[in-house]
Amino acid sequence: MSYRFLLPGHSAESKKIMEKLLKKAAQDLAAAQNVVALTGAGISVESGIPPFRGKGGIWERFDPMEYAHIDAFLKDPAKVWNVLLKEMKAMLDKATPNDAHKGLAKLEELGLLKTIITQNVDGLHQKAGNTDVIEFHGNFAWHRCLECNKTCPVEMIDLTQIPPRCDCGGIYRPEVIFFGEMIPPEHLWRSRQISSDCDVMLVIGTSAVVQPAASMPVVAKESGAKVIEINAEPTPLTGPISDYLIMGKAGEIINGIMAELERLL
Ligand code: APR
Repeated sequence: MSYRFLLPGHSAESKKIMEKLLKKAAQDLAAAQNVVALTGAGISVESGIPPFRGKGGIWERFDPMEYAHIDAFLKDPAKVWNVLLKEMKAMLDKATPNDAHKGLAKLEELGLLKTIITQNVDGLHQKAGNTDVIEFHGNFAWHRCLECNKTCPVEMIDLTQIPPRCDCGGIYRPEVIFFGEMIPPEHLWRSRQISSDCDVMLVIGTSAVVQPAASMPVVAKESGAKVIEINAEPTPLTGPISDYLIMGKAGEIINGIMAELERLL
């Protein structure tokens, strides 16, 4: 087995493998013309937002079909607001960008990273400074009235009554994509386009099990790009699609890559 898929631990050998992978990622980024990143919930874990799947994941406590499907929301918006959305709002209110978000902003500043496709609804990439972010699953910062379609920033919404209501009496929903809803076609089309045009794709903190986001690394790979995965554990992309996996916490790994990159540039 080559070192690309060995899982780093704390032994001297693992440390060496990690150093090699960080160097390799920095070299691949430095040599690239067009880098795109696909991010998922794992990149925001170090900002205090739990992931959806796995240990401590949100879907361990809540059945997504009961709380995150559009039919469930429309049937009983108060239930979904009380159980899931109020808690999400409290978590997102407190969260600030971590080293992984900041590293990606630095990569854009260096002229290497062009666009981020994110499945996250937390807005942390923009807060860190990235300017071209495709929010595949929307953004919780905005809410829309189901009756009159007026949009409103979440901080302006009165949460003393649940479900929150617009002046017209309609119920507010977050501008996020619930299960059972379509990804906006323009986001899907542009994501496919930039995935097929990039020469390196960084895939960070996603379990890569939710479509169509999980197909973007496949599009990139099939178009000849290098796919570099940064994740706490292997995913279905590890092996068939990613050229290598750097396993660990996104913030620490991005810091390691940025330190190597500074030596190269
Ligand atoms: N650093 C890197 N990776 C991490 C970290 C960390 N600190 N913590 C967790 N991870 C990894 C997990 O091991 C997992 O593989 O991040 C991944 C998170 O996976 P999910 O929780 O499934 O998140 P995501 O892939 O973004 O989910 C996709 O599913 O329910 C929907 O709409 C929701 O956008 C979400 C979509």
